[in-house]
Amino acid sequence: MAVVLSGIQPSGSLHIGHLVGALENFVALQKGNTVFYMIADWHALTSKYNQAEVIQPSVYELAATFLAVGINPASSSIFVQSAVKEHSELQLLLSMTTPLSWLERVPTYKEKQANSNADLNSFGFLGYPLLQAADILMYQADKVPVGEDQLFHLELTREVARRFNHIFKTNFFKEPQAVLTPTAKVLGLDGRKMSKTYNNCIYLSDEDSAIKEKCTRQMISDPKRVKKSDPGNPEECPVFGYHKIFSSQVDQEEISQGCRTASIGCFDCKMKVAENLIVKIAPVRERAQSSLRNPKSLDDILMDGNGQARKVAQGTMDKVREIIKLPKF
Ligand code: TRP
Ligand code: SF4
Repeated sequence: MAVVLSGIQPSGSLHIGHLVGALENFVALQKGNTVFYMIADWHALTSKYNQAEVIQPSVYELAATFLAVGINPASSSIFVQSAVKEHSELQLLLSMTTPLSWLERVPTYKEKQANSNADLNSFGFLGYPLLQAADILMYQADKVPVGEDQLFHLELTREVARRFNHIFKTNFFKEPQAVLTPTAKVLGLDGRKMSKTYNNCIYLSDEDSAIKEKCTRQMISDPKRVKKSDPGNPEECPVFGYHKIFSSQVDQEEISQGCRTASIGCFDCKMKVAENLIVKIAPVRERAQSSLRNPKSLDDILMDGNGQARKVAQGTMDKVREIIKLPKF
């Protein structure tokens, strides 16, 4: 069986981009694979080091969301990164053979450093992608379902594995493959990348009324269609982009026709997006809320997952120490 591993940072507020860009893929990949889904709390710490108290509630929220979207803890290991200390040891050992320049040239490194309010001029933040490489290589993952923004980190992981294998004349580490979702990227309400920083997200925790408000009041549509009597071109409208992802074929055809013939107004069109989003989000939100009311059972699931992950991680580290010929004490 192929091994699948992925991780998400518990930095609060999962949005619909996470749902279609990552979580739906996580669910689909459970079939026929050995699966590890990790809550990357140490990664969250690289930028939230002075607000670590926000991490714990987000860990629970993320665990609850994993369950709510259909990740089955009986077959998939859901675990917390910091509960498996071996990740940190592997990052340290890999750091010996990873050139500094490889980390400095990661595009997200300079970009995030420049855009963040926190001072990210730290060793920990520079090491972010190497910690991610350790997460992946630890489980000998074959497939890593991620969003497009993570492709560089995956490439770096492959290079780190290759260099380790070369230096220690081994073929121990496998080179993982990224798995992208087939769905187009979900843009934010303002047409930019969906991101908390831009305040343009629809969150998985949004109530139905908030979803309707956001869609009808904040979602931008084709500025060329000014009046309802103007025929529009759905292919040029970001609202139709949402229909393509969240609406049925029948709805899409009806909207497309209605827009081109000016028989439907933009308000109704946006309301339809909202309704279709609600069909998808409301059950996830409700299931997540109900697991959050029972933190004890979330703890049990995480404890189980941590144990399963730790067992694999310990095996990997025994092997890695042996390959490096570390002294045993
Ligand atoms: N960096 C990833 C993100 O921000 C999260 C992550 C951490 C991850 N470790 C990982 C993803 C390992 C895949 C595999 O989305
Ligand atoms: Fe866009 Fe819908 Fe208005 Fe057409 S009807 S312009 S697709 S919001």
